[in-house]
Amino acid sequence: MAGGRPFRPAHGARVLVSAALTLLLFLAISSLLSSSSSSSSSSSAAEVAVHRRSFLAAEPDPLRARFELIRRQASDHAAVVAAYAAHARRLKLDAARQLAVFEHLSSSLSSISLRLSSAGAGADAEADADADDDPLRPLEKEAKDRVKLARQLVAESKESFDTQLKIQKLRDTVFAVHEQLRRARRLRDLSARIAAGSTPKSLHCLAMRLMADRIARPESYPAPAPLDLDSDLLHYALFSDNVVAASVVVASAVRSAAEPRRHVFHVVTDPMYLPAMQAWFTRRPPARRARVEVRSAAEFAFLNASHSPVVRRIEAGRSDLGLLEHLRFYLLEMFPELRRIVLLEEDVVVQRDLAPLWTVDLDGKVNGAVETCFGGFRRYSRYLNFSHPAVRERLSPRACAWAYGVNVFDLDAWRRERCTDRFHRYFDLNEDGSLWSEGSVLPAGLMTFYGTTKPLDKSWHVMGLGYNPSISPEEIRNAAVIHFSGNMKPWLDVALNQYKHLWTKYVDTEMEFLPLCNFGL
Ligand SMILES: *[C@@H]1O[C@H](CO)[C@@H](O)[C@H](O)[C@H]1NC(C)=O
Ligand SMILES: *[C@@H]1O[C@H](CO)[C@@H](O)[C@H](O)[C@H]1NC(C)=O
Repeated sequence: MAGGRPFRPAHGARVLVSAALTLLLFLAISSLLSSSSSSSSSSSAAEVAVHRRSFLAAEPDPLRARFELIRRQASDHAAVVAAYAAHARRLKLDAARQLAVFEHLSSSLSSISLRLSSAGAGADAEADADADDDPLRPLEKEAKDRVKLARQLVAESKESFDTQLKIQKLRDTVFAVHEQLRRARRLRDLSARIAAGSTPKSLHCLAMRLMADRIARPESYPAPAPLDLDSDLLHYALFSDNVVAASVVVASAVRSAAEPRRHVFHVVTDPMYLPAMQAWFTRRPPARRARVEVRSAAEFAFLNASHSPVVRRIEAGRSDLGLLEHLRFYLLEMFPELRRIVLLEEDVVVQRDLAPLWTVDLDGKVNGAVETCFGGFRRYSRYLNFSHPAVRERLSPRACAWAYGVNVFDLDAWRRERCTDRFHRYFDLNEDGSLWSEGSVLPAGLMTFYGTTKPLDKSWHVMGLGYNPSISPEEIRNAAVIHFSGNMKPWLDVALNQYKHLWTKYVDTEMEFLPLCNFGL
């Protein structure tokens, strides 16, 4: 799904474009002939053609704008229906037929959107040609019909869906209570907080509302202007499908920045959440001239099965491997024009200006990160299987581990050290999970950036706010970035109360959809 990305004509496909144009021209002429012969007016076909040509020459844009509008409508609806399908799958709805309808509709909308963008590219490439829009009517009509069907389907399903959601929520509550009890046994001070983990539903609700609003009022969501990348800018990467968490990361970083206009956030999300994420940042752009660019993971051509073993394994059925989680190993491919980039995780809050990270001396290393070892703890031996020769022969078990959350990457050094290749090699070696357990990306990072990581001062990054109830207030106060690592995320009901306000104070409470979606903030 291309979502609402700025419209871009295809470049490499001149031949295809001209073939399409020929076809268009042929269709245009034949429809012109048929309309003029059936018309009772006395104006000749030539007159009509002249009139049309001058109209198109003076105003080439309306046609393109119309393409873009229909294409966006189709792709937005594809996303909504895909979101329902994903949710239906997660809820294990019995209505397999309904699921199939969702999926079919979503994919046909996507394909219409694709066809529309190639038709649009043709019109765009040669706006002064005699490209009449009538021959595109069938495609437009098909798109409109599908969109109408999508609306109907969503409206009809909503009620049964809500019931399903309630049942599921009940089940979640039971599960959550069990989970809580288990944790409470370990952490005594938690026993008082037994609550249902309802917030993931709220996040989903928010995404759906944003998409629905964008569809209902497209005029309020203009396509974002492309970024101009002058060299003075400070670039962040953030991989997330959690709209609220991403907005907190951006808002906190902007509020702490000395020169916000230099800060640019590249948010990369799952294609399914692209419209929602874009809608949020269009409605609530960052303050003080900072900028956000939202992109879909599906846009990156290098994320294909022949290049990336992660994609290969996901396509082979390992759906538990999160693609978004692994995007951090493709920073160079994603941002080849940049020299440095700061990677923030979605569960952090920025409390201090991060600009110095772009000038901190990395000694030629690739990755600047805060180390986590103390005494014999959190050494490499904890994360990697040193019985395996591939690990034992390359690394020291005593090496100090570091953390993700806030990292600065030097992309020139990354290119020189061929870190992406290194990651691919280790990822392939770990096919059977014998080097590290695949649930986490940290061990893969520890292997990939072994010997190329420069320790940063500890005050850059204080972690554990998602599991450790006894971090000293002073340490938190002095931290540039606080990190809710652990299971008790600040957007969940199970969040640790003493830290939650550090996150909620950056939530944009003026966004009217938040209370509608039961965010108990
Ligand atoms: C896969 O990605 C690689 C690396 O960017 C690229 O060279 C190749 O053309 C891509 N293949 C496909 C099928 O897109
Ligand atoms: C660690 O590596 C050894 C040697 O390859 C292997 O036999 C063992 O199963 C691995 N351990 C785990 C937990 O995968």
